[in-house]
Amino acid sequence: MIASMTSRGEVLQHLEVFLRENIGTFLKKVEDSWQPSDFLPDSRLDNFFDEVKALRERAKELSYDLLAVLIGDTITEEALPNYEAWFHQLDNLNRDPNNGWAQWIRGWTAEENRHGDLLNRYLYLCGRVNMREFEISTQYLIADGFDLGTAHDPYRAFVYTSYQEAATNLSHRRVGTLARKAGDGALSKLCGMIAGDESRHARVYQTFVEKIFEVDPSEMMLAFEDMMRKKIVMPAHYMRELGVEMGKTFGHFTDAAQRLGVYTSQDYTDILEGLINTWKIDQVTGLNGQAEKARDYIMALPARLRRVADRMPVPKLEYKFKWIE
Ligand SMILES: [Fe+2]
Ligand SMILES: [Fe+2]
Repeated sequence: MIASMTSRGEVLQHLEVFLRENIGTFLKKVEDSWQPSDFLPDSRLDNFFDEVKALRERAKELSYDLLAVLIGDTITEEALPNYEAWFHQLDNLNRDPNNGWAQWIRGWTAEENRHGDLLNRYLYLCGRVNMREFEISTQYLIADGFDLGTAHDPYRAFVYTSYQEAATNLSHRRVGTLARKAGDGALSKLCGMIAGDESRHARVYQTFVEKIFEVDPSEMMLAFEDMMRKKIVMPAHYMRELGVEMGKTFGHFTDAAQRLGVYTSQDYTDILEGLINTWKIDQVTGLNGQAEKARDYIMALPARLRRVADRMPVPKLEYKFKWIE
């Protein structure tokens, strides 16, 4: 533990060295990466139309809710320009192009960019999606932006991304499982590829936080507490359709995800508990008085959230999305 290291600027600089040393395990090389076309019909080939026909046949078996969740997930991925911009606005990150932080942001964005491409093309080919309405929602979401409650603080941002990447891993994986059960093995496979990236990203962000806890425990604990008090909101919380109030469509999208069990309030608490264990919150030493109280709050939170969740009914209301017709 480096006792004298207190400012966020110094901590982030210290972490940058670690990041640069490990960038090869945190990111996959382009040559070793999967690409969206690996999982979609090749339009140069004569069997293209047969493959598309087969894809469309399989997609017919997906339930309305499952298709809606897949579309909502895709819109979320397609708002990547906002996530990248948000990252660049964080304080204390060196923007020099060769700096580890800049390398990480670019590499992470480059990997994430494949997610929206892959899902978008699947949706286009599957024959069940009103692509124009879907595109309108995407344009809205990028234009509307978001408020994640992190301000420009990297500590809060890394709590957020530790959480968020774990949540997307879970939801893509579950959509994949449901797709396989419905007979769409190809969709299941591509969801699994995306989930694999999300899971690796989640581990990287969790490692950043772990490292910060080693050198600046009180401030890291306070940032964690602050994010949990505000509640982690999904980056697509302003999602809407044409003619629908901002954020309204998001509510229907998360209702469908709850109904399917793709992402539930139970999962929210499970991820929180996972982070508490990963960061060994109960064993963190060197906390000041305020940070000790923050730890108490965090440690008691999972049980509190479970009591509330027990009383929340699964939303029944079926909603007709403009994306599907
Ligand atoms: Fe993603
Ligand atoms: Fe992600």
